[in-house]
Amino acid sequence: MLNIVIFGAPGSGKGTQSERIIAKYGLNHISTGDVLRAEIKNGTELGKVAKGYIDQGQLLPDALIIDILASVLDSFKESKGVIFDGFPRTIPQAEALKKMLNERGQDVSVMLDLDVPEAELIERLIKRGQESGRADDNMETIKKRLVVYNEQTSPLKDYYKTEGKYQHINGVGTMEAIFAEIASAIDKL
Ligand code: AP5
Ligand code: MG
Repeated sequence: MLNIVIFGAPGSGKGTQSERIIAKYGLNHISTGDVLRAEIKNGTELGKVAKGYIDQGQLLPDALIIDILASVLDSFKESKGVIFDGFPRTIPQAEALKKMLNERGQDVSVMLDLDVPEAELIERLIKRGQESGRADDNMETIKKRLVVYNEQTSPLKDYYKTEGKYQHINGVGTMEAIFAEIASAIDKL
């Protein structure tokens, strides 16, 4: 069972590389951001709550996002493993993930940290905002998302180093070259 945490700042390529990992390894994918955007699109109560946080570049409360994660995880039957994209984003979320997997006799296999300098992150997100119009891809919200990432999410690098699960990935270059580094890390597991 391969349980991969794909990690990195906003715009680091988590979604882009997840697609390639799924195609090669046949895993299930949970992107908490995609789940929340679907709820917003469908106009659900959860979507209304989520929109308030996402538009401000802030994280949803841990308890709420952990419940969502647990229910998506339960929906996967006969899974070869899961890519966790955009989760965990805080230490309590990482601890909850560990507990959920341990209860299923599993664990996180690896945490892949896509490392991209901030100037390039901003450039990618501004470009995507102009092309496809994700509501949080504007300069003001991007800056808030980066602050939240640096303060609340990046400490997870040390958490996974302590767990012996941390793997650095150079997130700059062609999508193919980055995927080659990811695949070689996965194949060593
Ligand atoms: P989420 O949807 O997870 O957004 P994010 O972390 O800000 O990251 P992105 O999806 O913007 O970037 P990505 O790393 O997936 O990069 P991508 O492949 O798209 O979360 C959104 C919000 O939801 C949060 O702010 C929060 O409010 C809430 N939320 C979600 N999860 C939560 C949680 N666990 N707890 C609490 N709240 C939560 O690539 C970006 C762009 O770059 C694309 O246009 C792509 O084409 C391009 N690109 C990719 N790779 C390359 C490359 N190698 N070279 C050039 N361009 C590239
Ligand atoms: Mg994404």
